[in-house]
Amino acid sequence: MAASNSGRYLSTDSNKVDETFKVQEAETVNIPPPPTEKLLVLGGNGFVGSHVCREALDRGLSVASLSRSGRSSIHDSWANNVIWHQGNLLSPGSWEDALTGVTAVISCVGGFGSTSYMYKINGTANINAIRAASDKGVKRFVYISAADFGVANYVLQGYYDGKRAAEAELLIKYPYGGVILRPGFIYGTRSVGSMKLPLGAIGSPLEMVLQHARSLTQLPLVGPLFTPPVNVTAVAKVAVRAASDPVFPPGIIDVYGIQRYNQQKFK
Ligand SMILES: NC(=O)c1ccc[n+]([C@@H]2O[C@H](COP(=O)([O-])OP(=O)(O)OC[C@H]3O[C@@H](n4cnc5c(N)ncnc54)[C@H](OP(=O)(O)O)[C@@H]3O)[C@@H](O)[C@H]2O)c1
Repeated sequence: MAASNSGRYLSTDSNKVDETFKVQEAETVNIPPPPTEKLLVLGGNGFVGSHVCREALDRGLSVASLSRSGRSSIHDSWANNVIWHQGNLLSPGSWEDALTGVTAVISCVGGFGSTSYMYKINGTANINAIRAASDKGVKRFVYISAADFGVANYVLQGYYDGKRAAEAELLIKYPYGGVILRPGFIYGTRSVGSMKLPLGAIGSPLEMVLQHARSLTQLPLVGPLFTPPVNVTAVAKVAVRAASDPVFPPGIIDVYGIQRYNQQKFK
């Protein structure tokens, strides 16, 4: 044996394999790769938003939520895996840091009240979010909108006008990565404080009946009242898929589309 300049021992016999160059077999360590998709759920502590957060966590995404009250009253263990931001979409300049590093946003922000409040919460708040996300380079944006209410549009004018204004902004800012879901009534388990309200008792049988009565929705004025209800887990599943599947087609998805995508396998 002779010592090389680098201090490594080399064999003097050229046919011998130098033991120091043998590659040791690496031990296999099963560490899952860190999630590359970072999702921000606007209104992640609400009825639809909390189901969206759970679905996204189940799919291995990194999940954050933003709402005025932050985590608020959610006590379930899955909520420990969400990053909770507190912020108001109606106060621009105060919440946009939550968009840093985010690859997709799902907005579940909306609500009822006076006409002007409904326009602000369904329209202005979401328009602010869409513009900020686009400015920050977020790739995909999914908005939970609502189906046409027919006659009820007149009563809930601020709600309906706000929804449509936010949709229009999304189609402009996100022509390739924007998806709008338009469910009718959404049923499922809604948490109210520490109570769980099982709204499926009404929604599920109605969905069974009305999904076979599509032609009724074509009736003038009252038709939209026959829009079948949809399960909150279906809305959440399709929203998360739309936010994380780069080939998911952009555009508007009605309740029948939500039901169809929900039945498809999603890898
Ligand atoms: N539930 C249904 O049957 C149904 C049917 C069709 C469409 N939709 C639509 O689906 C979406 C979700 O509905 P939902 O039933 O889940 O409503 P929800 O339970 O009332 O949730 C609304 C969420 O928005 C947040 N939020 C409200 N104002 C905000 C603001 N200014 N800034 C930041 N966050 C704000 C609320 O949290 P904080 O109060 O803590 O801010 C809450 O997390 C809405 O757009 C709704 O119009 C619902």
